[in-house]
Amino acid sequence: MNNASHAQDSSSKPSDRRRFCKMAIGGMAVASAGMVGYPVTTFLKLPKSMSQQGSMEVPLADLAEGTAIWGEHLGRQIAVIKVDGQVRAFNGACPHLGCVVQWEGATRTFKCPCHGAVFSDNGKPVAGPVNAPLESVPFQIQDDVLRIT
Ligand code: FES
Repeated sequence: MNNASHAQDSSSKPSDRRRFCKMAIGGMAVASAGMVGYPVTTFLKLPKSMSQQGSMEVPLADLAEGTAIWGEHLGRQIAVIKVDGQVRAFNGACPHLGCVVQWEGATRTFKCPCHGAVFSDNGKPVAGPVNAPLESVPFQIQDDVLRIT
């Protein structure tokens, strides 16, 4: 009887160990996903200064020559720039892998912080691992306010 009981105990222990190992591996997988996912999503999130609205309006009086105003429209991060008196709007998502580009007024270029792509003030690629331009965003101007709807 003792032998039978002992045999039963020894057969259940590997099962418990297996279950523990599966739970430990699952826990490590969840923790690893969190450690990778949190910094990535934090990096890709909009800066706090950006609007969270579904439509975007930019008073042209606020847009100085050579500067950019950022906002959000339908989940896209939009840059409105003014260069040589012309107003242009672009989707800020880099066409390479989707990082948000940054406007550099001094050089009048968009630069991607992820892999170094550079785009002209027309959105055309001029350097880096990308051949596609930034997506141009249509807009209307009425009463000195730019609207993206
Ligand atoms: S995501 Fe912009 S260069 Fe790679």
